[in-house]
Amino acid sequence: MNLDYNEAKTLLKSLMGQKDKFPEDVTIIICPSTPYLSAFSEVLKDQGWVQLGAQNNYFEDSGAHTGEVSPTQLKSLGVSFCIVGHSERRNDFNEDYGILSKKVKALLKHGIRPVFCCGEQLQVRDSNVYKEFVIKQIEDSLFKFSAEEIQKIVIAYEPIWAIGTGKTASAEEAQEIHQLIRNRIASQYDENTANQVSILYGGSCNSDNAGELFSQKDIDGGLIGGASLEAESFVAIANAY
Ligand code: PGA
Repeated sequence: MNLDYNEAKTLLKSLMGQKDKFPEDVTIIICPSTPYLSAFSEVLKDQGWVQLGAQNNYFEDSGAHTGEVSPTQLKSLGVSFCIVGHSERRNDFNEDYGILSKKVKALLKHGIRPVFCCGEQLQVRDSNVYKEFVIKQIEDSLFKFSAEEIQKIVIAYEPIWAIGTGKTASAEEAQEIHQLIRNRIASQYDENTANQVSILYGGSCNSDNAGELFSQKDIDGGLIGGASLEAESFVAIANAY
């Protein structure tokens, strides 16, 4: 819920102006606040190098669900990715594993790729059951899907203690969880499926630490919050991959 409409348009313009500085072999996705999707869609529709993502969706296709946004509506705007289960949605809106699973299912049905977030709170990290905690979030919401469907889901590991705090997980801490996630997908499905799943890191990722994080074997990219509000740092992070 950052930036008003004019500020968001200015940021988008600035990003578009830097097109030549983005690496060609990195997938760039921009996920603006819901009210701006339509305007962003108009600008991005002819820009093959950047894709449009949403931050949230409801699990029904249509109907009387005032204030919600459906996958069909997102699809009609050219949205190709949607964040699901960000820790703020889990905490502020009580979105549990069942709701998140329904949201993922609804997106897949319409060919929108979910970016499924997982991650532990500080007290869970300190209690030493953080590995089991994160794996259970994935098992509970995602393991009902087929191998083909799982490959379309992007997973974002976002330790809650690192989101917006300026405190990043070290590259080793992040890699430990990413590897666990990939191994668990391999044991549930198969190795090939696990290797097809993109696992992003999120949580105070910035132009200074992105290179080290992205150099880890199982870190396939980043979900960038604060550092994406400024075009220069977003470009630098994309180039760090
Ligand atoms: P941050 O946000 O990069 O500002 O920590 C990440 C997020 O909200 O997912």
